[in-house]
Amino acid sequence: MCGAARLILLKHSHMIDCPDVRKSVIRNHYNLTTLFYRLLWGRHIHHGLWNDSESPARAQLQLTEALASAAGIQPNATVLDVGCGMGGSSIHLAKTLNCNVTGITLSRLQRHWAGWSSFRRGTSGNTSFRCVDAELAEFEEAAFDVVWSIECTEHLFDKPAFFQKVAGWLRPGGRVAICAWLAGDDVTDGPAAQQVYDVCEGFFCPSLGSSADYRTWMEQAGLEFDDYQDWTDRVTQTWEICRRRVEQTGMRHIARLLGVNTTMFVDRFNTILEAYRSGAMRYGCLIARRRS
Ligand SMILES: C[S@@+](CC[C@H](N)C(=O)[O-])C[C@H]1O[C@@H](n2cnc3c(N)ncnc32)[C@H](O)[C@@H]1O
Repeated sequence: MCGAARLILLKHSHMIDCPDVRKSVIRNHYNLTTLFYRLLWGRHIHHGLWNDSESPARAQLQLTEALASAAGIQPNATVLDVGCGMGGSSIHLAKTLNCNVTGITLSRLQRHWAGWSSFRRGTSGNTSFRCVDAELAEFEEAAFDVVWSIECTEHLFDKPAFFQKVAGWLRPGGRVAICAWLAGDDVTDGPAAQQVYDVCEGFFCPSLGSSADYRTWMEQAGLEFDDYQDWTDRVTQTWEICRRRVEQTGMRHIARLLGVNTTMFVDRFNTILEAYRSGAMRYGCLIARRRS
């Protein structure tokens, strides 16, 4: 349901909250639809980043590379990939920078998929994948040079608590590198807030924060905020392509077979596209560091 009455706005931030989302539904979504993502989009379950008219596969890699560059990831770095999907980022960082990557995902199927994919692409010596909830995960203090997360923090229920954990997992001087779907800076009510709510509901996000919220959570965790880059205009065509592919391939029928949640998800591709176009949503990368 997406009635205005269900829209909850938190007064202390720009965060838009969608209280009906359940963790079990997020897990089921990725267990059910990972094959769907692979066929519809590619190895990475994230937006593409376009400079020009590159292919979607190239644009997906460009986003990964742009985040690695913004975070200044060094060769041989020890990386935690939070919400690793099919292992796209983990394998890329292992292959191109010889990073040692631990990937975690909520989905058991994705954990096996990522492990198998890493084996096939020759990086299994540098990667390991676990099925664990990032909000419950425990790692040793200062275990990682980089905590990396592309399009997973949207799914977390307590985002400030997550950044507290991240701060402990980073070695002094280490960096957290995030790509995230964001609520627009001034979105507090009205049709724009409703659009963000509809995206949260359709894509199983308990909330979407603004770039200012992320900065606050990082700073409250004691991290030093480094950089925010707004990539909205360079990622938006992801949804034009996905919408077209769904229409051309009859994927909506497969979605229907997978149930109401997957049908709603596909039906909301247009909503997210409109939300980016209207400014209700932004997309960006955020970098912060643990003080040395
Ligand atoms: C949009 S996909 C992004 C996947 C991957 N980062 C990529 O870019 O290809 C979101 C990922 O977050 C994971 N995820 C969602 N909630 C999570 C949680 N609480 N703990 C760990 N992973 C989670 C999902 O299992 C999925 O792999």
